[in-house]
Amino acid sequence: MVYLKQQRPEKVTVPAVRASKERGERLVCLTAYDYPTARIVDEAGTDIILVGDSLGNVVLGYDSTVPVTLEDMLHHTRAVRRGVERALLVADMPYGSYHTGETEAVRAALRLVKEGGAEAVKLEGGRNRVEVIRRLVSEEIPVMGHVGLTPQSLNKLGSYRLQAKTADAARALVEDARMLEEAGVFAIVLEVVPREIARMVTEALRVPVIGIGAGADCDAQILVTHDLLGLSFSRTSPRFVRQYANLRAAITDAVTRYADDVRAGAFPSDTESYPLPADAAAELGLTRAGDEEVKKP
Ligand code: KIV
Repeated sequence: MVYLKQQRPEKVTVPAVRASKERGERLVCLTAYDYPTARIVDEAGTDIILVGDSLGNVVLGYDSTVPVTLEDMLHHTRAVRRGVERALLVADMPYGSYHTGETEAVRAALRLVKEGGAEAVKLEGGRNRVEVIRRLVSEEIPVMGHVGLTPQSLNKLGSYRLQAKTADAARALVEDARMLEEAGVFAIVLEVVPREIARMVTEALRVPVIGIGAGADCDAQILVTHDLLGLSFSRTSPRFVRQYANLRAAITDAVTRYADDVRAGAFPSDTESYPLPADAAAELGLTRAGDEEVKKP
């Protein structure tokens, strides 16, 4: 359920997200990469807004999230920060920013918090991330985990596909998620795994599990906002995306009508233009556009 801001005006915080699981509240999470989207999504009552590194594919035109830089994330996080009042703002740590040592990771995360205005960071991976998560948490930086399909591992995986399909892989996933919880994450994104396995992970953890392509039994759901709005240009649409609007068609229609009007001389009209004041028109001997018809016999 989406709560309207007026109905649930209190600021969403990291402790509130943790507590939501015990209260049985289903959190609503979406991505945003810019100020207008952030305002709209926040004002509609979204609980967590993620500046996802999916911005690499969605708004920067890359084939994957791998090329996204810390500077890209900072630029977009700052814009989103200016548009968000109520939601918890989480920024993705891009590929390469937490792989070369814990001190480097702390430095990158602190930039996202101090310069970007993020209230928490998200990073991908399971047991191999325990040390870095512990270090970030010990420096008072709230961390969201991300397991299952981890798009930054594209070069290792070869393609984006369903994860945890075997019993061994499912057991390893549950163990990874437990280790992240133990390391101190306040929530975990679980991406593209079978519904039954998502339920196992959700039941095994005390922190909220935020599903994407993981079925309805997770504690929360997240989607890429551009997918939900029909503004995505990816070649395939994953089965877990529900498109609630077709803004690509709406924008194409608006731009086509504008182009037709410009070419036909029908835009702008007089009411969309600025008239010259009457005294200046008289002094210059000009007929004012709006007066033309009145003066005609
Ligand atoms: O980058 C992103 O948008 C994400 C979500 C899909 C969870 O990580």
